[in-house]
Amino acid sequence: MFQFILIALLCATAPLATAKSHGKIIRKPIISRFNPTRRIVSSNNTTPIQVGNGNFAFGADITGLQTLQPFNTLSSWGWHNSSLPNNTTPANFTGLDWWTHGRLVNYDQPNPAEPGISQWLIANPHRVNLGRVGFVLLRGDGHGTEINVTEHDLSSVMQELDLYSGTVRSVFTIKGAQVQVTTIVDPETDTLAVKASSTLLSKGQLGFFLDYPYATDKNKFEAPYVGDWNAVNKHKTNLSLENTNGAHGAAKITHQMDETIYYTHLRWNEQSQIKLVTGTHRYILQPHPGNSEAFELTVTFSPSGSSPSNAGVGAIQSASAHWWKNYWETGAFVDLTATENATAIEIQRRTILSQYLLAVNEAGGDPPQESGLANNGWYGKFHMEMYLWHSVHWLAWDKSSLLERSLGVYNRFLESSIERAENQGYDGARWGKMSDPTGRSAPGEINSLLIWQQPHVFYFAETEYQHEDISQRKAILQKWDDILTQSADFMASFAFWNESTHVYDLGPPMYPASENTPPNSTTNPTFELAYWRFGLDTAITWKQRLNQSVPEAWINVAEHLAPLPTTKSPTGEETYTLYEGIPNMWTDPETVMDHPALTAIYGLLPAPSRAPDILNHTIFAATTAEVARAWNFTDCWGWDFPMLSMNSVRLGDVDAAIGYLVDPNFQFDDVGMPVGSEGKAPTPYFPGSGGLLQAVAMMAGGWGGQDKEFVSAFPEDWMAKVEGFRPVL
Ligand SMILES: *[C@@H]1O[C@H](CO)[C@@H](O)[C@H](O)[C@H]1NC(C)=O
Ligand SMILES: *[C@@H]1O[C@H](CO)[C@@H](O)[C@H](O)[C@H]1NC(C)=O
Ligand SMILES: *[C@@H]1O[C@H](CO)[C@@H](O)[C@H](O)[C@H]1NC(C)=O
Ligand SMILES: *[C@@H]1O[C@H](CO)[C@@H](O)[C@H](O)[C@H]1NC(C)=O
Ligand SMILES: *[C@@H]1O[C@H](CO)[C@@H](O)[C@H](O)[C@H]1NC(C)=O
Ligand SMILES: *[C@@H]1O[C@H](CO)[C@@H](O)[C@H](O)[C@H]1NC(C)=O
Ligand SMILES: *[C@@H]1O[C@H](CO)[C@@H](O)[C@H](O)[C@H]1NC(C)=O
Ligand SMILES: *[C@@H]1O[C@H](CO)[C@@H](O)[C@H](O)[C@H]1NC(C)=O
Ligand SMILES: *[C@@H]1O[C@H](CO)[C@@H](O)[C@H](O)[C@H]1NC(C)=O
Ligand SMILES: *[C@@H]1O[C@H](CO)[C@@H](O)[C@H](O)[C@H]1NC(C)=O
Ligand SMILES: *[C@@H]1O[C@H](CO)[C@@H](O)[C@H](O)[C@H]1NC(C)=O
Ligand SMILES: *[C@@H]1O[C@H](CO)[C@@H](O)[C@H](O)[C@H]1NC(C)=O
Repeated sequence: MFQFILIALLCATAPLATAKSHGKIIRKPIISRFNPTRRIVSSNNTTPIQVGNGNFAFGADITGLQTLQPFNTLSSWGWHNSSLPNNTTPANFTGLDWWTHGRLVNYDQPNPAEPGISQWLIANPHRVNLGRVGFVLLRGDGHGTEINVTEHDLSSVMQELDLYSGTVRSVFTIKGAQVQVTTIVDPETDTLAVKASSTLLSKGQLGFFLDYPYATDKNKFEAPYVGDWNAVNKHKTNLSLENTNGAHGAAKITHQMDETIYYTHLRWNEQSQIKLVTGTHRYILQPHPGNSEAFELTVTFSPSGSSPSNAGVGAIQSASAHWWKNYWETGAFVDLTATENATAIEIQRRTILSQYLLAVNEAGGDPPQESGLANNGWYGKFHMEMYLWHSVHWLAWDKSSLLERSLGVYNRFLESSIERAENQGYDGARWGKMSDPTGRSAPGEINSLLIWQQPHVFYFAETEYQHEDISQRKAILQKWDDILTQSADFMASFAFWNESTHVYDLGPPMYPASENTPPNSTTNPTFELAYWRFGLDTAITWKQRLNQSVPEAWINVAEHLAPLPTTKSPTGEETYTLYEGIPNMWTDPETVMDHPALTAIYGLLPAPSRAPDILNHTIFAATTAEVARAWNFTDCWGWDFPMLSMNSVRLGDVDAAIGYLVDPNFQFDDVGMPVGSEGKAPTPYFPGSGGLLQAVAMMAGGWGGQDKEFVSAFPEDWMAKVEGFRPVL
């Protein structure tokens, strides 16, 4: 009791912005219990075991490197443009004009008269697989020929990812000798550090290769492997030996693909030779016979040609151990292991592995792509509407510094978003959708007509505001003011005054979150209407907090938005609908599928949006029941299940909330990769992991606007222990 009061006092007085160690739960054994292990050679041909730092990640096969499988090495900064179609520049792209409430509005949609540049803009730039690093067998004669390792060469394989230190340990036997491998990534530089130990190394019979694929714009999805390994003549590499800086040897490989140039800096600790395999981009690092058994290698990928300052393998190992220990011991934590209830343990496993994988894949300088840094989906680009599901959980878990790394995207993209709105005759800033780091939104019918990314800025800003210490609030208000003002200006001018109904309509044309309705007749989708209202209400409150005048248009539109549309369910109850006037809402199989974003109006959206003058609770309860009854969950994937779960949590239905989190259509594989959806989103589909962490945070830490102290919403008999959570909105 005394300890509890002390913690409460500390929380009340210390600035709340920095993550703190809470230290009530002994976290390490819980984390380590879920260390992924793999024990067969081809454990999984779909997903690697990964190490990384949020901006850079390395996908390893069973050898701890990319020996057998060319899993990927991806970063936030590695991008490539294919050459433009002949006689064309991006300025040749003009998009399409669609009638929009009586006027022609230009949308960035592929223009059939401009097929070349339309497709080029969709597929460029694309994310680069920086290179492959693996083991090779050598003849051991000092200048030996290399021999590729195959599955059949390996036996007694054993691999474990130590989550607590971000280290992969792999052991295997090859040619009768054991090889032990440690694989780590530096938290600061984009450096892979490898420690390998074997008599084969001291005999010069085992070495390393580095290889480079060409980056191509041919495939929308490149999973599980990224890049074209057969286009040797389309790109160039060269090798130069470098100042060793205390290492035994060092080299730099320059890789040029068209306009893209980046560097690989290598350092090793034992006498070795490095050479190019003629006619390829494959480099072989051959340890000399007579070395010690322990070989250390660092491989730094960088857009910069100057030698990196990072230290050797030992120093990187301590830096990684330190970074990960801090990551695990600060911020929030949930312990569901008090009972051995299988569902509780599975949710714990998914949570721990998601915490790991999101720090590896989704804590970079840009919003994450759906597949993080594991493989390429949508050419490696990221989606502004998915940013919330990927990343908002960092705030509830008290890890705001990891979100801050990418949140600057709203400042960077503001100018081009203002231009987008202006070109279409709207005020303010219209946020794009499928983006590269320059902020260009890829041409696409859906891309140009989706709108639910627009209010996300209010969600992020309001969450930050609610979490901040009072003394920081002024800074938060100012930081977001311009972004929110521009966003709200667009939202007010986008809403269309309907002379006959005397309300403001959203659309047409538009696509709702489920992207499966006819855009020229989709009007007033329930989720988008509620989210628009939340955004405008927050914009108004923000100005009031800043003591600034509130633009009339915001108040006017917020107060006169179309009501949430309803229809009768097959059992005659009034329910909300996907959009206004949709035929056969609950009986058309093409409607009761895909993202059930209807449920987000309660589960995801904050208190004001749940107020009785916006949302009728009787109708909403009937809607939730009808979704549970009629929806085709086989067709749902990723964040759908956390969204449904959050809705059930808020409605107080714990069993349903837990059920959604372990729905058979919501799977995480042996290393915690969130399984995608056949034909829609390859594995990993990380919005599922981000959503899971947000749902768990909601169950553990509750939400704003509750009048009594929140008691965790996990089943009572699980005896869940939670600490350090911030309420979600
Ligand atoms: C490999 O991973 C995929 C997706 O991540 C999963 O569907 C499959 O079951 C896994 N296979 C094995 C053998 O673990
Ligand atoms: C690719 O080309 C576009 C359009 O010219 C440009 O904005 C972008 O910076 C280029 N990116 C890379 C990585 O070259
Ligand atoms: C583009 O121009 C080059 C050089 O004139 C030519 O070799 C190539 O076939 C052209 N490509 C296309 C797609 O027309
Ligand atoms: C692209 O625009 C330039 C300049 O207006 C023009 O000369 C060129 O023919 C256009 N290219 C195509 C493929 O239409
Ligand atoms: C929507 O209307 C525009 C004309 O404003 C038309 O060009 C387009 O093909 C229509 N789209 C669909 C999907 O019907
Ligand atoms: C080794 O594998 C690489 C990549 O698959 C291939 O290009 C190369 O020809 C192989 N080398 C040998 C000696 O088989
Ligand atoms: C290596 O390649 C880069 C890029 O193509 C080039 O600028 C550089 O001069 C080359 N260096 C050597 C030593 O060939
Ligand atoms: C595990 O917990 C859930 C939720 O409380 C419960 O429904 C289920 O029966 C439990 N399983 C076992 C084996 O006790
Ligand atoms: C006004 O709303 C009604 C009912 O939703 C709709 O049928 C009509 O098309 C709307 N008017 C305009 C001009 O969009
Ligand atoms: C707004 O005005 C109130 C009352 O004068 C003051 O306490 C508060 O600090 C002001 N807020 C800001 C952001 O300036
Ligand atoms: C909510 O909807 C129900 C069912 O249509 C209706 O009977 C009730 O009056 C509504 N409540 C409010 C507060 O509007
Ligand atoms: C449900 O969705 C799955 C996957 O898209 C589909 O194969 C199946 O036919 C759908 N079921 C119904 C009843 O429409």
